[in-house]
Amino acid sequence: MPTIISVTNNKGGTGKTTTVFNLGAALARRGFSVLLIDLDAQCNLSIAAGVSQPAHHVGELVLGEATFEQTLVKKPQYHLLPAQRVLLSYEYRVNNEPDSGHLLADVIKDKDYDFVLIDCPPSLGALTVNALVASNYYIVPMQGENFAYIGLDEIQKLVLKIKKRMNPDLELAGILLSMFDLRTKFGQMVYQKLVQDQRLKVFTGNIRQDIALMECTVFGQSIFDYAPESRGAADYNHHCEEVLALVGKTPKIPV
Ligand SMILES: Nc1ncnc2c1ncn2[C@@H]1O[C@H](COP(=O)(O)OP(=O)(O)OP(=O)(O)O)[C@@H](O)[C@H]1O
Ligand SMILES: [Mg+2]
Repeated sequence: MPTIISVTNNKGGTGKTTTVFNLGAALARRGFSVLLIDLDAQCNLSIAAGVSQPAHHVGELVLGEATFEQTLVKKPQYHLLPAQRVLLSYEYRVNNEPDSGHLLADVIKDKDYDFVLIDCPPSLGALTVNALVASNYYIVPMQGENFAYIGLDEIQKLVLKIKKRMNPDLELAGILLSMFDLRTKFGQMVYQKLVQDQRLKVFTGNIRQDIALMECTVFGQSIFDYAPESRGAADYNHHCEEVLALVGKTPKIPV
């Protein structure tokens, strides 16, 4: 049984795709088999993986219009269920299906991977619901600014409903402060506010601003291949270790 982790925030541009791409690479480097799922019609994860015109997309898979094997793209370090722009219309189509929240869970739960990481769209619609219903954990990348709290509240409300009705075991892995500088006064203030909230869990490691993290997805390389000595590589390595400690798995290959 894979450990399934959704990376979600309804606010756009908080580092979801960057986290899925590089946490996935960090896990693969440690010897784990990894499936990445692009649930966002912007297709940023698929593009970063060099898959811009896939034969089939994950929306077709969940509606039974394509098989898992037809949809899967195999890369040397990981496998990918890609997106296409047309995925946007699948929000609506998925919503109209009976038992619509379980469609993604049904197609991935028995797959033979150590980890499945799901890149959610910046919304809390039917596809994000499907991701959270399928997941053991969710990570919320967040930038340290005031508006971010509003989004966090909405995610937590949705998670409460999903836990109650569809997936009681869903657990917050943690809030991941990204593009964030803990050394600033403001950064400290945001961090303190989050850790004082008993309902929340915050990863101790944050992801600092690093231009190499922006560049690596453009070049289709993980931060570990693109800039192994960068701050971004160090931060995502540390993040990966925190995730492994949380889920109770040890690296198969030491790095
Ligand atoms: N730590 C970082 N330092 C610098 N740039 C970053 C960092 N993390 C992400 N970025 C850049 O910020 C932008 C948004 O990041 P990303 O695409 O990962 O966010 P997202 O939450 O997936 O966005 P969306 O909601 O649109 O899907 C991208 O251009 C990305 O390259
Ligand atoms: Mg994204």
